[in-house]
Amino acid sequence: ARPAVVLGVESSCDETGFGIVSEGRLLGQGLASSAAQHAEFGGVVPEIAARAHLDAAAPTLRLALADAGVELGDITHVAATSGPGLATAVHVGLAAAKSIAWALDVPLYGVHHLAGHAAADTLAHGPLPEESIILIVSGGHTSILHVRDLVRDPIEHLGDTLDDAAGEAFDKVARLLGLGYPGGPAISRAALEGDPTAFSFPRAMLRPGDAPYTFSFSGLKTAVARTVESLERAGEPVPVADIAASFEQAVVDVLVTKSLRAVQAKCLSTLVIVGGVAANARLRAVAQERCDAAGVELRIPPMSLCTDNGAMIAAVGDLLVRSGAGPSSLGFAADPSAVL
Ligand code: KG4
Ligand code: ZN
Repeated sequence: ARPAVVLGVESSCDETGFGIVSEGRLLGQGLASSAAQHAEFGGVVPEIAARAHLDAAAPTLRLALADAGVELGDITHVAATSGPGLATAVHVGLAAAKSIAWALDVPLYGVHHLAGHAAADTLAHGPLPEESIILIVSGGHTSILHVRDLVRDPIEHLGDTLDDAAGEAFDKVARLLGLGYPGGPAISRAALEGDPTAFSFPRAMLRPGDAPYTFSFSGLKTAVARTVESLERAGEPVPVADIAASFEQAVVDVLVTKSLRAVQAKCLSTLVIVGGVAANARLRAVAQERCDAAGVELRIPPMSLCTDNGAMIAAVGDLLVRSGAGPSSLGFAADPSAVL
């Protein structure tokens, strides 16, 4: 039989993504972002994001087809994010996916956004091992997942954050330090010149008795704010680089400690890190160092596959097709508050 050519559609936040995957291989993708339109509001505005998805859908689909060198008629299956995400945003991408599937008369699959993040790594490094721990760290999620077969077995959600996501903490602290937007890369750059041991910021949820895989980053953000305020009150200069480096070290320390703890508790040998914060050089270096010391294999996909994109949704669709899973009905509903 002719191999499946799966089109993936992502629209859960401010990225409009289309990706085309066949038999585990990424053929091409197109991506548009409305990030610039949200900057003045200090966060993603759902109605603006939805409108931007509507404008971007057809041109971005065309980009993906051209990048992959395939015609729309070559698509054999469509997969779309059904949640979690911003309701209005998810609905636009799902409606586009349903229209394409109906027009081509091909099966449609609803995909969980977090399964997509996890599957992204397979496009860079091949199939996941039989069992692994996946740390998802982005502006919207901070989750430790225990994954067996991504599409056949249920994903076990070991823990996530009680308050801010890791990327959100980077963005808020960058604002506090006057480092601008987006915060993650700005903090990383400033931190290069700083001493990560200059300030000892709190590592939340690491005491015995604390939930082993749960995160909390709002106290850390408050600690940074208090430090900045007290320096300013005393009329002393604010050592931005040292604060950035110490903050970054505190976040990375907790992320790596908890995800490695999960790998060891489950007697596994692979840790996968995905999401926008996986671009952070200190996170990559510390995770590599501690994984090497623990004899754990570390997998982190290239940046273009860490942030939201359509290829990761196509990757899940492709796995579903090859596993023989039945498609969703064209009438299936979005699930904006989907949980694992
Ligand atoms: O996955 P992503 O592109 O979007 C979603 O949130 O879904 O993640 C964006 C987040 C932002 O909070 C951004 O500040 C953070 O990832 N980020 C970083 C770095 N690059 C992006 N955080 C730390 N260090 C970086 N180099
Ligand atoms: Zn995401």
